[in-house]
Amino acid sequence: MLNRFADQVAIITGGAEGIGKGIAQRIASEGATVALFDINGALLERTVAEFTAKGQAVTGYVVDISDEISVANAVEKIAQTFGRLDIMVNSAGIVGPTSTKIADYSVDDYDKIYRINLRGAFLMTKYAVKLMEKANYGRILHLASIAGKEGNPFMTGYSSMKAGVIGLVKGVGKEYAETGITVNGLAPAVIKTALNEHTAPEQLAYMTAKIPMKRLGTVEEVASIAAWILSKEASFNTGFIFDLSGGRATY
Ligand SMILES: NC(=O)c1ccc[n+]([C@@H]2O[C@H](COP(=O)([O-])OP(=O)(O)OC[C@H]3O[C@@H](n4cnc5c(N)ncnc54)[C@H](O)[C@@H]3O)[C@@H](O)[C@H]2O)c1
Repeated sequence: MLNRFADQVAIITGGAEGIGKGIAQRIASEGATVALFDINGALLERTVAEFTAKGQAVTGYVVDISDEISVANAVEKIAQTFGRLDIMVNSAGIVGPTSTKIADYSVDDYDKIYRINLRGAFLMTKYAVKLMEKANYGRILHLASIAGKEGNPFMTGYSSMKAGVIGLVKGVGKEYAETGITVNGLAPAVIKTALNEHTAPEQLAYMTAKIPMKRLGTVEEVASIAAWILSKEASFNTGFIFDLSGGRATY
């Protein structure tokens, strides 16, 4: 078993389930002390109990990543408790309306997905990087999506915000390129998680049909590449969006 994250402290947003939980599991099993930030308190409690039962150093914080005060306070708690932050993975996110033409896409839905998927990514980066700067070391990883690179039709909000996350990663990655802090993103195609449970079947079929491997990706596959990007080994990679799309992406 590798021990790449011994003595390291990580924040993982959206860590109560899905991809965030999978990445938490992977890096905790390799020695990281992990703080899960999630808006769903009940689920968070259950997930933390699961990790604790395995003897892993995982704690939970109820945080709404779209809310500046909530983010600032929670990151401050990490600073006070652990005195350091090596890793920040931003996996919290929502899908918003699917199979919906822009003409029918409400402004309220657009504003809601903006607040969580893009404003949340900005806030988490802003507060994490401030703490990482103290030690001149850090690994920031955002969950973008193939939808942000190619644009998924009938998901205006999701496609726009994921494209925004890609811009954030590229810009901030360059801002910190001369420090020990890297900022990267992942652009998965469809991964089997609860996020897709309510996606309209025709939308899911469209997205799966576009994957040359003709299957959904797994959380373990995401966690595997994430763990490398989050490790010290990934030292010449920043401002980049890594592919995870079963052959769908062409750039
Ligand atoms: N599953 C996929 O097919 C897929 C593909 C590409 C990208 N992604 C992206 O990966 C990330 C994780 O997706 P997932 O499939 O694990 O989703 P998920 O629904 O399984 O988990 C998302 C988690 O985020 C939390 N969350 C939602 N809003 C929050 C907020 N405001 N503050 C804090 N936590 C909040 C939820 O409670 C949940 O625990 C998302 O950003 C998603 O857009 C997923």
